[in-house]
Amino acid sequence: MLKSTLIKAAQAAGALIQERINGKFSVETKAGPNDLVTEVDKASEALIMDIIRQDFPGHFILSEEIGEVKMDSSTKWIIDPIDGTVNFANGIPLCCVSIGIEHEGNMIMGAVYNPMMNEFFFAEKGKGAFLNDNSIRVSQQDQVKHACLVTGFPYTYLDMENGPLEVFSRLIRKGIPVRRLGSAAIDLCWVAAGRFDGFYEHKLNAWDSAAGFLMVEEAGGVVTDFAGDAYSPYQPHIVATNGKIHQELLHWIANTHE
Ligand code: IPD
Ligand code: CA
Ligand code: CA
Repeated sequence: MLKSTLIKAAQAAGALIQERINGKFSVETKAGPNDLVTEVDKASEALIMDIIRQDFPGHFILSEEIGEVKMDSSTKWIIDPIDGTVNFANGIPLCCVSIGIEHEGNMIMGAVYNPMMNEFFFAEKGKGAFLNDNSIRVSQQDQVKHACLVTGFPYTYLDMENGPLEVFSRLIRKGIPVRRLGSAAIDLCWVAAGRFDGFYEHKLNAWDSAAGFLMVEEAGGVVTDFAGDAYSPYQPHIVATNGKIHQELLHWIANTHE
């Protein structure tokens, strides 16, 4: 039942995103002038929450626009109603809905759906990761200097040692391709599918990564924080790779690489 509700919610939200991406909708700003929320983000969130509540009225929900809907439940749904809102608002078809399910503190299931590319990613703890029902695996690349990487930048620049632009410039100066798609959930799924060898970002929220990090792990990859410790979606740093370049990429980020 959990799985069918998850799929139903992601499909419904995806259909809404696809229907409205090139249409008219109101746009508001949040923390900064480019941190956007559209009326479609809110409509997608309401649709997903309705579907979850029909089947599981007692479950805890954490969703980007509404925040926490606390319940005395060991199961929590973590929702990003549109990941890649700036892309969505500009008609760039790199955006998705992302929903993760956490049980007793562990991510057990996730779905990420980009309807414009007809790509539905699904992962279940211990049972693998799938793109449109086909099993996916991470890549085999074992050197950062030959890797194809992806990252994202926060809406408010982080001026810190080894910050987003420092790490980006370190890699770009060596000619290493680092893409920037604008949707962390898609970035993670594309690592899981072996399109990228690794992804890192300095400031994510739980809803950006909840489903995607399980996708990478279930596709055979590794996900940690910047120190190389076990990943928690409740802290900002993420490094998600095919496993083979993981330690080396951590060193590039910390500026301790050779
Ligand atoms: C953003 C995207 C982007 C990442 C930002 C996120 P939103 O989410 O995932 O790729 O760089 O950190 O906030 O605002 O489009 O849901
Ligand atoms: Ca997001
Ligand atoms: Ca969002």
